[in-house]
Amino acid sequence: MAEAYAHTNIALVKYWGKRPGPLNLPAVGSLSLTLDAFGTWTRVTPGAATDTLELNGAPQAGEAVRKVSAFLDMVRALAGRTEPAAVHSRNDVPTAAGLASSASAFAALAVAGCRAYGVNLDARALSALARRGSGSAARSLFGGFVLMEKGVREDGTDACAQPLPAGDGWPVRLVVAACAEGPKEVSSTDGMTHTQHTSPYFPAWVDTHDADLRAAADHVRTRDLERLGEVMEFSTLKMHASAMASRPGVIYWRGVSLEAALRVRQLRAAGTPAWFTMDAGPHVKVLTTEQDAPAVAAALREVPGVLRVQVAAPGPAARVLA
Ligand code: PMV
Repeated sequence: MAEAYAHTNIALVKYWGKRPGPLNLPAVGSLSLTLDAFGTWTRVTPGAATDTLELNGAPQAGEAVRKVSAFLDMVRALAGRTEPAAVHSRNDVPTAAGLASSASAFAALAVAGCRAYGVNLDARALSALARRGSGSAARSLFGGFVLMEKGVREDGTDACAQPLPAGDGWPVRLVVAACAEGPKEVSSTDGMTHTQHTSPYFPAWVDTHDADLRAAADHVRTRDLERLGEVMEFSTLKMHASAMASRPGVIYWRGVSLEAALRVRQLRAAGTPAWFTMDAGPHVKVLTTEQDAPAVAAALREVPGVLRVQVAAPGPAARVLA
């Protein structure tokens, strides 16, 4: 039996698009910030009759169990073991907080699963394993700012994340504005696959991505929030523009998302350091300083249609609890 906790993360430079094949290889790298406030606790107990999953106290069936089972099959193959497991998991990602739980969920499952089945992987291999569950999960193994390389090898061993320790202790904040209730309408996998297959802007997204990634990593190293924020907004708008230009267009934005984004630009014009990003959903996340976070949160709460606003600080790496 083993228990682990992993925090969620938000990409500042986005992952959007996959290389072909079964290994869930990204078409582009990404750069993220792990968040303290949200995460997933998971316990894996080998020796059950079949693989089971209990999430937030409720037994699961269907697709959720199938995904966990397929992931544990990879861990069992590494361990040379076959016995099924009971998996218990709890998401500390408040409903409609606007944060995906798949990143922290598969990172916690990778850590707890490897520990429970006696598989010892180094950080890179563990990250590459977590990637098989969800691309963003590869980043949630690490704390603070994290760089994910797309890699070039066909076996995916170099498609893994690494921490950017130069960013440790930088007092930035991510203000998360929830802009709608309910699950997202188009999953990130469906959205990126459809973009890749039908959007004339997808090649431009891929071609211009690496420059953003290298620049963002440099801006973390030099702690240049202004430049990091600028490239962050550029990356998210390019990702969404490529998705919108697919056929039919994938639109994650609601009216309130646009209002919140424009409010961030107004704040910036008035001198507040604040930049927005959005993922495969309508929620708006704003990078700012520790000092400015309360004012940014207050401004976003005033935007009609914003449901909830929470402030997150940089969070730690995933860890084994027992
Ligand atoms: O990890 P996935 O497969 O859910 O994809 C994440 C995609 C985005 O959230 C839109 C961007 C990212 O890099 O996290």
